[in-house]
Amino acid sequence: MTRERILSGMQASGRLHIGNYHGALENWVKLQDDYECLYFIADWHALTTLFCEPGKIQEYTREIAIDFMACGLDPERSTIFIQSEVLQHAELCVILGMITPVPWLERVPSYKDKKKELAGKDLSSHGFLGYPVLQSADIAIYRADYVPVGEDQLPHLELTREIVRRFNHLYGATLVEPQEIVTPAAALPGLDGRKMSKSYDNAVYLSDGDETVRKKLMSAVTDPQRQRRKDPGRPEVCNIHTYHKIYSSKRRLAEIEEQCRTAEIGCVDCKKELIERFFVHFAGIRQKRKELSADPGSVRAALDQGAARAREVAEETMALVRKAAGLGWSP
Ligand code: TRP
Ligand code: SF4
Repeated sequence: MTRERILSGMQASGRLHIGNYHGALENWVKLQDDYECLYFIADWHALTTLFCEPGKIQEYTREIAIDFMACGLDPERSTIFIQSEVLQHAELCVILGMITPVPWLERVPSYKDKKKELAGKDLSSHGFLGYPVLQSADIAIYRADYVPVGEDQLPHLELTREIVRRFNHLYGATLVEPQEIVTPAAALPGLDGRKMSKSYDNAVYLSDGDETVRKKLMSAVTDPQRQRRKDPGRPEVCNIHTYHKIYSSKRRLAEIEEQCRTAEIGCVDCKKELIERFFVHFAGIRQKRKELSADPGSVRAALDQGAARAREVAEETMALVRKAAGLGWSP
């Protein structure tokens, strides 16, 4: 029996942090057991905002590839590739662009939000407005059944379905309407209590070294009312407590809550303990990261294999699409 197909991608606009891990990658790894999975690094999408800094995109692409594989995306079971190495995405993007009304793009919330967020940057480009058209092409080119995404991506998925419906309506049933698999909004706050994000400078990266991890966690915000060692704390408003929920045992967590409320432990001890738990939790991934970083050739080989496989599937779809849209000619 052929398995249903999953596709997802990450934009090459930063290294991956533990929010990306718990909010997406960890789930992607599990999905490999039950689905045919394709996972890619969206470097064209990164150009929408990093077009002035090409060196960065390359660095992020390499590091994300290492992050993917270190976390357990398995190039033997899944197709792992770089977007710009499968040209069919761009070809389909051009065609979908012809049938996508501009007002559909202008009302996408991420378009308005990003523009506001990056107010200093020139985001008046055609490509930036067309970001979701490219994303629709990424998905439609593989006729993916499901797309695991965070909640912030739901408008993009909705738009993808609308574009696919329009294509199928105009040219006959060719493309597949994808369904989302929503990964619950990351339960993991950043070091300052806001959402973990590279733009807030409050993230712990999978590629951070031991010392950096220690420093970051030691300086994380805790319960602001706990000024002195003897002040009782409120675990429910504390970041470090949220991290303990993920990395410490249930039993130890209950003790920590109690010891925090009675000021039996101080924040420094609580953080030191967390750091130890963190290193245990990520030992395998961090070790694998080191090995892969020292062997870029093997990472490159896996991406070559992924791109070759992706091209096969993408080309099958494009053959149908070109014919449906009335392109090309042969006597
Ligand atoms: N827009 C997605 C993000 O920022 C990245 C992405 C690009 C994507 N193409 C995709 C995700 C296709 C899922 C499917 O996270
Ligand atoms: Fe947070 Fe731990 Fe300090 Fe309590 S003791 S406020 S849980 S860091």
